[in-house]
Amino acid sequence: MDELVRLAKARGFVFPSAEIYGGFRSTYDYGPLGVLMERNVKEAWWREMVQLRQEVVGLDAAILSSPRIWEASGHLKNFTDPLVDCRTCKQRWRADQLPTTEDGKLLCPNCGGHDFTEARPFNLMFKTFVGPVEDEGAVAYLRPETAQGHFVNFANVLQTEHLRPPFGTAQIGKSFRNEITPGNFVFRTREFEQMELEYFVPPDEAPRWFEYWCNERLEWYVRFGIPRDMLRLRPHTKEELSHYSAGTADVEFSFPWGWGELEGIANRTDYDLKAHAAASGQVLEYFDPTSGERYVPYVIEPAAGVARTMMAFLIAAYNVDEVGGEERTVLRLHPRIAPYQVAVLPLSKKDTLLPLSQEVLKLLQPVAMCDYDITRAIGRRYRRQDEIGTPLCVTVDFDSLDDKAVTIRDRDSTAQERVPIDRLVEAVASRLAW
Ligand code: GAP
Repeated sequence: MDELVRLAKARGFVFPSAEIYGGFRSTYDYGPLGVLMERNVKEAWWREMVQLRQEVVGLDAAILSSPRIWEASGHLKNFTDPLVDCRTCKQRWRADQLPTTEDGKLLCPNCGGHDFTEARPFNLMFKTFVGPVEDEGAVAYLRPETAQGHFVNFANVLQTEHLRPPFGTAQIGKSFRNEITPGNFVFRTREFEQMELEYFVPPDEAPRWFEYWCNERLEWYVRFGIPRDMLRLRPHTKEELSHYSAGTADVEFSFPWGWGELEGIANRTDYDLKAHAAASGQVLEYFDPTSGERYVPYVIEPAAGVARTMMAFLIAAYNVDEVGGEERTVLRLHPRIAPYQVAVLPLSKKDTLLPLSQEVLKLLQPVAMCDYDITRAIGRRYRRQDEIGTPLCVTVDFDSLDDKAVTIRDRDSTAQERVPIDRLVEAVASRLAW
């Protein structure tokens, strides 16, 4: 894990936020490679959840909206964690995450003390004021999940799209939670991005769709490169269930510190639509024109986090092997997830090679995200591309000027193949298995 955090910073994936001021409470910024990878994670999700489906449409709801949403959804009342203070060192902790001693006493991870205050509920929503006056009437909250934006737009979506259950709305966006104990790098932060699907189904079909989405989501991580044995589906116990859920299963990943949640799949029943219908006085139902039936759909919700997913992909891809008797670090990332798909590398930075190298780059840029590197010896440049997970390197050498061909090097096997430039786009596309 330490090695990965080091690599993430050194190579420009993730930087501690406000580092020049000593950082800021477990917040992180995404660097040049981090933004590319983050976009790829979201694109891989969007492609499979929206683009390849006919019955799912997109949505992008406001982060700041009416506080009545959070009152109706139950978040004002229920979105809390139990909080305790250590009376010895005054640190504040989540009571349900504290380690215990052999005789069952809570243990302070900071000072080893056992003397805690009574647990009290702490609401995780960030509160702010809209407009210039800071009074109760101006209070608003940063959303703690994107999901409610789907429910309050349920009628709008039904009016504009010809959809009948099962159908879904998909959204990717920032959410905010005033977590008591953020940590484990980007695993738990106060500002984070979610990828959520709300899938509206006839109530009697909810168990079937719940199963369907548990399998579908687990397989998505496998398809994009996480070994099956690093993943598991864990059903929630009754005590763990969110206030809206009739059943939840987490997709968990084997992090270096143990199993941790990547995504929750919940059967939210008709809880949210009914709550918003009651609070707003609006009709939030589906009317089936053929059967004349009217009902409130149940909702199956696969909800994933972008940063956790990215971290899991990085951990699963991280590898140290040997090439030509030398140790190398390689990220065996799926081509759709890797920050760059191709690196164009002129063998030398002599002027004679640069015009052709630029031509090759321009040829590939429309089909893949390309890096272009003319610094250092070619072997060291290959190592750098291996370390950031670039699946293919395209090398332009002095022969290229005569034979109008380049060498493609494969990250995983390190095999090299000569390819004519006029067939390069096709050759790259087939190797990336687009
Ligand atoms: N709408 C349901 C919902 O928000 P959740 O299990 O609380 O469910 C879904 O969140 C996903 O969002 C989690 O599985 C995780 O990947 C991500 N997530 C939640 N809280 C997070 C945090 N504090 N930091 C980073 N990611 C978080």
